[in-house]
Amino acid sequence: MLYYMPTKLYYGKDIIFQHKEEMIIGEKAIIVTGRNSAKITGALEDVISVLNEFHIPYVHYNEIGENPTYEMVLKGKEIAIENECDFVIAIGGGSPMDAGKSIAVLASNPDLSPDDLFDMKNYDVALPIVAIPTTSGTGSEVTPFAVLTKPNGRKSGFKSELIFPDVSYLDPKYMVKMSKSLTMTTAVDALSHSIEGILSKKATVLSDMLAKESISLIYNYLPKVLNDLENIEYREKLAIASSLAGMVIAQTGTILPHSLGYRITIHKGLRHGQATAIFLPFVAQEVKKTAPKKTKILEEIFGSLDGLYEFLKSVDVYKYDIDFTEEELDMFSKEVMNSSHVKNTPGNFDLEKIKGMYKKILKI
Ligand SMILES: [Fe+2]
Repeated sequence: MLYYMPTKLYYGKDIIFQHKEEMIIGEKAIIVTGRNSAKITGALEDVISVLNEFHIPYVHYNEIGENPTYEMVLKGKEIAIENECDFVIAIGGGSPMDAGKSIAVLASNPDLSPDDLFDMKNYDVALPIVAIPTTSGTGSEVTPFAVLTKPNGRKSGFKSELIFPDVSYLDPKYMVKMSKSLTMTTAVDALSHSIEGILSKKATVLSDMLAKESISLIYNYLPKVLNDLENIEYREKLAIASSLAGMVIAQTGTILPHSLGYRITIHKGLRHGQATAIFLPFVAQEVKKTAPKKTKILEEIFGSLDGLYEFLKSVDVYKYDIDFTEEELDMFSKEVMNSSHVKNTPGNFDLEKIKGMYKKILKI
């Protein structure tokens, strides 16, 4: 068993100011954000005030959209190289953090294209990274992963120990402005990370411990947060749950629900967390048939796998309006079958079983 998580993770309210000198891991920063969220949450203002205090120059690249593309990270690479930035500060949800990680590698390796990121043998340096999440779901602040959308529309992740952030600041005050629907979809992304970690063939004693705590926190506090969005105490519980879930997938990776969900997000527009979580009970039921020990922790927390379904239903995960044709069903299923997620999912999934998963979520 190996446990490796080299990120220095600080959490708590106003944590940036209590450990501000540790944010200064270079001489010029590129701050990578989406268009609005870093501003609305107050995180950008806090970061800039720390940089100003230490007289650290920066450029701000704020054009990262949901599901970051090659174009977005290439532009960030150019900006970082032109301005001679030597560290990245990524602020936001998963998209800006994953884009920031990609830019960290590309800016250190000027000859590389985004396609080269997917083979870690292509590079052995990256700019150091500071990550500041403003949602609680992705866990990217503690993982060696980044997900990009390729020019053919497919979402693909890459993994490299070089993109574990050096320092991450987890402050629940940046999360209180999240809408109800964003809160739900990001929280069930974290829930998917922990549940997939438990089901994964790569699960360890330690990843199961982290996952169990994370699932319990989401089970107990997501319904509370949804009824009291600005409650900082509840937000803190979800923030911790999300980082714990990130630590889980840093060890185990994600499995089938993520691969199934990527197609729904790209082709049908359902947000990542929700598009993934809709498959959890059905994949878990299939896993139980061949590996009943794998679902024990879930049955303890939710009462049963039906209890997991009922929980997801109670937080509106099954409120969606999507449909797909037979041709799409074929295409999605074949893509999933070819993804690396299948081999780490117990349950002997073949093409027919994968089609069956898609059919199940259409019947709801
Ligand atoms: Fe995810």
